Amino acid sequence: MEQKKTTDIGQEKVIEVKGLYKSFGNYDVLKGVDLDLHRRENLVVLGKSGTGKSVLIKILVGLLSPDEGEVKVLGQHVDQISYKQLLDLRLKVGFSFQNSALYDSMTVRQNLEFPLVRNQRKLTKGEVNQAVERVLDAVGLLQTINQMPSELSGGQRKRVGIARTLILQPEVMLYDEPTAGLDPITCLEINSLINEVQERFHTSSIVITHDLTCAKAVGNRVAMLLDGKFERQGTFEEVFNTSDERVKPFYDYNFIQ
Ligand SMILES: Nc1ncnc2c1ncn2[C@@H]1O[C@H](COP(=O)(O)OP(=O)(O)OP(=O)(O)O)[C@@H](O)[C@H]1O
Ligand SMILES: [Mg+2]
Repeated sequence: MEQKKTTDIGQEKVIEVKGLYKSFGNYDVLKGVDLDLHRRENLVVLGKSGTGKSVLIKILVGLLSPDEGEVKVLGQHVDQISYKQLLDLRLKVGFSFQNSALYDSMTVRQNLEFPLVRNQRKLTKGEVNQAVERVLDAVGLLQTINQMPSELSGGQRKRVGIARTLILQPEVMLYDEPTAGLDPITCLEINSLINEVQERFHTSSIVITHDLTCAKAVGNRVAMLLDGKFERQGTFEEVFNTSDERVKPFYDYNFIQ
């Protein structure tokens, strides 16, 4: 499979991280992370379990604070703004948590209405309906609008989760392991959806994954978290064309079985 080509990615940086450190007790997780995300770029973040990928995402949206370093998202220092400014910023940064679940007692429609009604109180019922139908159509699940989450497949639930993030029309999307727990075919469908979202909604995205097929299919660029830093960043080939013993097993596991 070919590495995804760069379409119209600009020089503008929507996320800028410099010299980021984060420890929990005496456990150093992030040890000098530098990372940029450009406008309309899909950046894939790879790394072994427990290396701090989810911690990084949580710092980007202000759910955890950095110990040291600069974290700018859409031009704002996330650790220096007021809570009100942080809430406004989060509306522009859609993040789907690793284990984010839908509300089981609500229909698909109600799940999608929820973030919209909570954040944009002035919308009319018609506008809400239109927004719900638009995102559900974008993820190819308009027919499930009145179903309960328990009636959907795992892949469909992921899609509804992505639609729920998209409904606020974010500029930046943060996907934490969007294909985890899905079969290979469904993974391919989610990969296509991530690419469609980039094209159709002009989003810039960070995609965390363990799945190199996903990385290759959706990433304009790849960054690998190794020992608390992004020591390897670039195209898929630049990152994996190495004899680095920390990187090779990752590749071998995914492609040589
Ligand atoms: N709030 C917290 N308090 C204490 N330790 C934490 C906290 N959040 C994360 N950690 C620790 O930081 C390390 C990195 O966690 P993180 O969830 O970022 O890993 P990850 O790279 O996302 O792994 P996975 O691929 O399994 O999702 C782990 O050792 C975890 O236990
Ligand atoms: Mg994680």
